[in-house]
Amino acid sequence: MKILATGSALPKKVVSNDDLAKMMDTSDEWIRTRTGIRTRHIATDETTTGIAVEAAKKAFQASKVSIDELDLIICATVSSDYIYPTLACEVQAALGAKRATAFDIGAGCSGFLFALATADAYFRTGRYKNALIMGAETLSKMMDWSDRSTCVLFGDGAGAAVVSAEGDQLLSMVQGSDGAGGMALKCKNRSVSNLFHQVAAEHYSYTEMNGPEVYKFAVRTVPNAVGEALEKADVKVDEVKLFLLHQANMRIIESVAKRLGQPLEKFPTNLQECGNISAASVPVLLDSVYKEGKICKGDKIVLAGFGAGLTWGACVIEW
Ligand code: UT7
Repeated sequence: MKILATGSALPKKVVSNDDLAKMMDTSDEWIRTRTGIRTRHIATDETTTGIAVEAAKKAFQASKVSIDELDLIICATVSSDYIYPTLACEVQAALGAKRATAFDIGAGCSGFLFALATADAYFRTGRYKNALIMGAETLSKMMDWSDRSTCVLFGDGAGAAVVSAEGDQLLSMVQGSDGAGGMALKCKNRSVSNLFHQVAAEHYSYTEMNGPEVYKFAVRTVPNAVGEALEKADVKVDEVKLFLLHQANMRIIESVAKRLGQPLEKFPTNLQECGNISAASVPVLLDSVYKEGKICKGDKIVLAGFGAGLTWGACVIEW
């Protein structure tokens, strides 16, 4: 597998911590010191499909792969515009990628890692050559805006990568799930209600998170997953140029850096500007780091995601 190009898109409206403090009982000080977040992009007239297509087009233009050569579209999302059709099918239609097989993956904030692993597995069948993998979210619509403990944390955005079967950049991949811990971060779908079993009219559900539980899970699981991925790849931690982690909380990133014995400078971040954009956080970060020229041929980088499910994934890539 080889990453040919990346792209990203963020809604135009930027909401600062101070903006939120005018609307609810919170403060810039609380949000910054607990999480590192300063602003987030919030969709107004944008949709998940709209930003996903924008990110995909940017990645495509840079990849030089033609739409007719695209075999696979995998979108990681928990906030598609429709329950069905999938976001991946919507993106396929917008791109006119008629040959592609398209489907979504729901693995919360680990979604982009799961999409990458799935594309790699498809490539290994020998029947797929080019894939578009994405993480795209409009989490702002999944928030209870009267719950300050969650709504200040999340944002909206999309990141994409065009990947090809021709190459061997992916040195290792580690994935895991712990469904038993899943209720720590949840958003309920509709209840069963039909002619034969009726429930009282219910309201939409929103994101609920046991923050301290998810925090403990992250600081415990991510260093182990990264360690395992490095071992599988036979790469020493000091050889890694950059660690691109899911952007949930600066304190989690600092803790992982400490556990791995690595300087914080090796951990680029975008949570200050974007907040937590779930499946989109790793590909949006990858896109900006790559475009800033911080990744060169031969560099070893680690990508890692963790979140709802509970799920986690980590991989080592040699660019
Ligand atoms: O992307 C998926 C993965 N998600 C994560 O990794 C998130 C992991 N969890 C976290 O990052 C942290 O647990 C949070 C940032 C969510 C919360 O930080 P915390 O240090 O664990 O705070 P807490 O939940 O223990 O709350 C501490 C206090 C509470 O007040 P009391 O009970 O101590 O008086 C909250 O009511 O902070 C209060 N609080 C707030 N205050 C001002 C909660 N939210 C806010 C807020 N503004 N927005």
